[in-house]
Amino acid sequence: MATASPLCPYLMQVHHISQETPDVWTLSLINHDFYPYLPGQYALVEVNNSRTVRAYTLSSPPGGSRFVTLTVRRLADGQGSGWLTQRVKPGDYLWLSAAQGDFSCVNHVDNRYLFLAAGCGVTPVISMCRWLAAHRPRVDVQVIYCVRSPRDIIAAAAWTDLGHWLRLTVFAEQDAAGDIRPGRLTRDALRSLAPDIAARTVMACGPAPWMAQQETDARALGAERFWQERFHTPAAEADAGAVRLKISHPRLVQSVDAPVGVSLLASLESHGVAVNAACRAGVCGCCKTRIAQGPYRTTSAMTLSEQEIAEGYVLACSCYPLGDIVVA
Ligand code: FES
Repeated sequence: MATASPLCPYLMQVHHISQETPDVWTLSLINHDFYPYLPGQYALVEVNNSRTVRAYTLSSPPGGSRFVTLTVRRLADGQGSGWLTQRVKPGDYLWLSAAQGDFSCVNHVDNRYLFLAAGCGVTPVISMCRWLAAHRPRVDVQVIYCVRSPRDIIAAAAWTDLGHWLRLTVFAEQDAAGDIRPGRLTRDALRSLAPDIAARTVMACGPAPWMAQQETDARALGAERFWQERFHTPAAEADAGAVRLKISHPRLVQSVDAPVGVSLLASLESHGVAVNAACRAGVCGCCKTRIAQGPYRTTSAMTLSEQEIAEGYVLACSCYPLGDIVVA
């Protein structure tokens, strides 16, 4: 078994694996340590216990499950997804990173939500719905879930359990029957299903073009609070080795490649650059770093002054490069 790396220090054992759909599996992991995460977040997993990492949704609701679960869709050429779904077996150990990402209802608090999901993009939505049902049961939750066919519905049992509490509409492109609506989600359907969309926080997860279309439609119908998960497509493409950017750092002899959608902290650590970090959640301020050049987005600047932000300081754990960057 490999030893812990700074990037993936959490060792978890596979308890069981269940197949959700023809190409999606959920791995239930036993964790013997404290593992804080928010509903909707994801973790990086070391592939084949090497230093290669891939990102997968933490589909269990924090505090609401005996296991930490990862739900993984097998991609045709996916190095990580192929290994996790075909070779890993109960009893094996996985190394996970701290939880990552800001696509969480905890970060976007409201009393009314509309979750839009397509395909495997439903996994963070499941976690958020189960967490909200347990901790904020008075919240009004509506879910619109788009699949290719009814057999591609992920977490069917969870949707049945939550059916009395939330309003779920499923669209299937093929073989729709019963309560499942045929076809795709259109702007007219969205208008009809969510006439109060302007009063809801809308959170969407699915393929990037699909999310872009949903944002266009939702905003045209009056939605003002719209958030989309930016992990899935970059991570899926990164799984195939496609979307990468360069990070230059004074402690690196040459610039290095990093996948889009991974924090600056995680990327630097995966290349052996030690960064002072404690909370990994944008709270403690330990990982303050300055970016001299290049585009990025941040999910927390909690401990930084306006002047520091103007000077390019970021919290590396909460900074996501959007292109090639130079760290000062
Ligand atoms: S590690 Fe605490 S703010 Fe980044």
